Amino acid sequence: MTAAYPNLRLRRTRAWGWSRALHRETVLTPADLIWPLFVTEGSGVEEPIASLPGVSRWSADGIAARAKEAVSLGIPCVALFPNTQADRRSDDGAEAFNPDNLMCRAIKAIKDACGSDIGVLTDVALDPYTSHGQDGLLDAAGYVTNDDTVAVLVDQAINQAAAGADVIAPSDMMDGRVRAIRMALEMNGHPNVQIMAYAAKYASAFYGPFRDAVGSGGLLKGDKKSYQMDPANGEEALREVALDLAEGADSVMVKPGLPYLDIVRRVKERFEVPVFAYQVSGEYAMIEAAAAAGAGDRDALVLETLMAFKRAGCSGVLTYHAAHAARLLGN
Ligand code: PBG
Repeated sequence: MTAAYPNLRLRRTRAWGWSRALHRETVLTPADLIWPLFVTEGSGVEEPIASLPGVSRWSADGIAARAKEAVSLGIPCVALFPNTQADRRSDDGAEAFNPDNLMCRAIKAIKDACGSDIGVLTDVALDPYTSHGQDGLLDAAGYVTNDDTVAVLVDQAINQAAAGADVIAPSDMMDGRVRAIRMALEMNGHPNVQIMAYAAKYASAFYGPFRDAVGSGGLLKGDKKSYQMDPANGEEALREVALDLAEGADSVMVKPGLPYLDIVRRVKERFEVPVFAYQVSGEYAMIEAAAAAGAGDRDALVLETLMAFKRAGCSGVLTYHAAHAARLLGN
């Protein structure tokens, strides 16, 4: 610093709007947003999700309409999550690699409606398909096995890529799954399908409303602590990221978002790769509850939190507020 008060007054550049605009270090645009969408069976169906006020499940036709809306708002990518019918869930989650499953039909509906105007990101993990709500296969003791699960996740990923998915996003936290999926994509004619690895995904209390949305919450017994990360750990997040990059991830994700911005920053500084964060369902619900209680202005809370992700080093953010934020930002 070259000067001292009063020659130096940091408030000088803050005094007027034009000057604040000129000195702003971070920009947030609709192109920074990925919009997660929940898919349900039927046609013309919209099912509001009670624990995520303002968010609905849509049938495939409605998903295509949301994707068109995203394109018109300048949002470059949507993320899909299916609410699989109860009678299609099983211990082994085999519906995950049914080429005609809800996910594949939604991917195709978007591609028919929007072509390559939008990216489709698909989640790889078994929880929307298993009768026990865990992300992988259980052994006799109820432990989520790693290697058997990876084999199934590979089938799930190839199924999604064949239906037209652009970005495979493994959220299961099994060891070695990025390498296995990358090799299978290469061998099956999908060299340009990306992998965004949920690299540092924590065993978090913020996922509750999401589990309602995909219908796995009521099924899940116990927790996911034997595969998702301990919220106490930061060094381990860096190891997870290093492994996923070495295995072929094109980008990495930190999840949840706001409580883990320190991890975002450390990953960005250490690896200098595209980092994304997922502002998860519980974070969305917290903002909505605060606004509904009069504890803060909804629009301002939404934009401030999204800007914080950009400032921390994110290339983009998965957020249920994507469409609303894009409207506020104007395209
Ligand atoms: C599935 C998955 C979860 C989320 C994204 N993918 C839930 C979980 O791991 O239990 C959470 C997203 C959110 O809360 O918005 N593996």
